[in-house]
Amino acid sequence: MSPPNVLVFGGLNTCSRALVGLLVPLEGEPLVSHVRVVDKFSVEPPTTYIGAEFPKLLRSKPELEYRQANLTVAATIASMFDPPEGQSAYDYVFDFTGEVQFDRTEMIQIDRTCQVARMIGLEAAKRKVKSYVRLQHPFYETSAKGSHDEKEDIKPEGVAGIWWHETLRMLAAIEDLNLVILRIGYVYGPYTNWGSITSAITVASVYGHMKKPMKSMWSPGKNPTHTVHTTDVAGGLWACAQWMAPLGRKEADSLAGEVIIFHNDKSKTSQVEGMPAPDKKLIAPLFNLVDDSNSTLLSVGQTMTSFFGTTFEFFNLLENTVLKLKSDAVEDINEHHVGGWTEMITTSNPPIPNTPLSAYMDTYALEKHVVAFSNKKFLEVTGYKLKQPQLTHETVKEVVDKWKEEGSWPMLDA
Ligand SMILES: *[C@@H]1O[C@H](CO)[C@@H](O)[C@H](O)[C@H]1NC(C)=O
Repeated sequence: MSPPNVLVFGGLNTCSRALVGLLVPLEGEPLVSHVRVVDKFSVEPPTTYIGAEFPKLLRSKPELEYRQANLTVAATIASMFDPPEGQSAYDYVFDFTGEVQFDRTEMIQIDRTCQVARMIGLEAAKRKVKSYVRLQHPFYETSAKGSHDEKEDIKPEGVAGIWWHETLRMLAAIEDLNLVILRIGYVYGPYTNWGSITSAITVASVYGHMKKPMKSMWSPGKNPTHTVHTTDVAGGLWACAQWMAPLGRKEADSLAGEVIIFHNDKSKTSQVEGMPAPDKKLIAPLFNLVDDSNSTLLSVGQTMTSFFGTTFEFFNLLENTVLKLKSDAVEDINEHHVGGWTEMITTSNPPIPNTPLSAYMDTYALEKHVVAFSNKKFLEVTGYKLKQPQLTHETVKEVVDKWKEEGSWPMLDA
């Protein structure tokens, strides 16, 4: 049997490049006969950061094809399912789509997250793909205590959280769809310039450069912020697809199905196309995927700051009160970060004229988050072994070294 054909939607700016790196590695045998990646961005020239590796893969791997397309159009999505001449139909679909910017409006979330995924899901069901793996980001607020397993009723966070979660219900409602949901922690990894952990790396480097402690606004409680490396996101998605393919949805539901609980405003049901009724019991295979670090705000802060030769501290009560009273605290904080980072990239030798990295922390990155997931079910059911189980100086170094190599990270004389 020849290796599968794979169709990847979205995620060029988040994690889909990592999956492609697994499927058609720079060195070694590809795991697929053909893989097509479809997203709204151009890659030549790139209209989003795509890292140094992806263009190399595009140039050197005949199995890999990139298509720029408008995914809000159903007919366009359908046409993407037609394989190239001489190739058989797509076996697996990986769905990374959805608006990840946290401050987008409800209308944007409905159009770009729910409806896009639903259209892809409907087409995938029609084409009878063997696996449809949906990547879910940690847009939730969990409890710091508890089992953290997939049965726990966790609260979608903000507008993005509500509609990303609703998307899971909409996909779960497609009966013939061989759906698996992989719900990940805070992702970081090589060539990933998105997300809170990436922000923490850049900002910690600024404090290291300024030789000042990095201070958090949030008290040193046990705020879990579980993490996961892109290598494991890629490996985990692949494991999901392979697990689902021989089973089919019914069997997979009975082995790993979870109720996707309604967490929306009931009145939206009549306004949003394809939104299942609030009382409809929807079940889909769902797995959490995080590393074994049990990361917390404190542990991530300490790992990053010690890597850059400084310390992680918490503002004391008085400082904190002053900060919170100042409405422009976010801008104040960012002035320091951005100023420091600018100094670093302009004094770099060689200079860094362009970098996809920034030390600006948006409101989401500065807010307090609690996300704790157990990876137990995923590891047990699929037999997957984590490749990067711990967030350490080494995993951070790998990320920074690759940015240095491609000229995105300042080279400073110590
Ligand atoms: C994508 O298609 C939608 C629907 O036709 C349209 O409103 C939107 O402007 C298109 N986006 C781009 C970037 O062309």
